[in-house]
Amino acid sequence: MTTVLITGANRGLGLEFARQYAADGWKVVGCCRDPDKADALKKITGVQIEALETGDEKSIAALAAKLKDTPIDLLINNAGIYSGANGTLGNDASQTFGTINGEAWDKVLRVNTIAPILVTQALLPNLQKGAGKKIVNITSRMGSLTEMGAGSVAYRSSKTALNGAMRVIMHDLQNMGLSIYNFHPGWVQTDMGGKGAHLTPEQSITAMRATISKLTAKDSGHYLNYDGQIIPW
Ligand SMILES: NC(=O)c1ccc[n+]([C@@H]2O[C@H](COP(=O)([O-])OP(=O)(O)OC[C@H]3O[C@@H](n4cnc5c(N)ncnc54)[C@H](OP(=O)(O)O)[C@@H]3O)[C@@H](O)[C@H]2O)c1
Repeated sequence: MTTVLITGANRGLGLEFARQYAADGWKVVGCCRDPDKADALKKITGVQIEALETGDEKSIAALAAKLKDTPIDLLINNAGIYSGANGTLGNDASQTFGTINGEAWDKVLRVNTIAPILVTQALLPNLQKGAGKKIVNITSRMGSLTEMGAGSVAYRSSKTALNGAMRVIMHDLQNMGLSIYNFHPGWVQTDMGGKGAHLTPEQSITAMRATISKLTAKDSGHYLNYDGQIIPW
């Protein structure tokens, strides 16, 4: 059976990834910070729910130890935060120039940039055992240097840095027979994206899954829109 491991699978895009892959007959390992409260994830038949706080290296190590012999075909590093201070898009003084809060920025970098790379590193033996050999990071178009706008400095820079880190480790992964891709999911109606966003989670994830299924090793290192279009760095 094909296995996907998804971080941040209890709500938003991660939950929809879990729903769609499970419905398609995949084995889904759905990771979340608090399995006891993952009610929506528990309702999906056949999901193996695991605890993972991606910002905590001990939690990452515990997950890797638990999954020791489990092959993983596809790793989706989805978990992410917009703000390190509970701010929302357009309303976050902690990442507005003039009132930037360094501690809050640290938290965003830990979860959005460093954690996906550490999770990937910890699960390398599992990915090498799987047949799929694919890693997907959910980044954002807000991290594109070419398209860079104002505001959200912590969030934007965390995704730019994730794109950069992906371009570094893609070379190491290639030597191990693994491919990695960074995806912008579109502007999606989740807690992070808000109700006014362009896409429903179902639309975004349906398109991303179709794109992921077509990607080959030759595409490794690409920065892609959910529909497969290349995004300028
Ligand atoms: N929605 C959009 O329009 C949009 C656009 C571009 C990129 N993205 C990216 O897409 C990804 C998913 O976003 P979303 O829209 O689904 O956001 P969301 O609705 O806010 O959900 C975020 C998910 O990440 C989890 N998470 C956050 N910090 C975590 C941590 N330290 N450890 C483990 N899990 C953690 C959350 O778990 P808890 O429930 O425990 O908090 C939740 O499951 C993010 O990387 C985001 O940056 C979203």
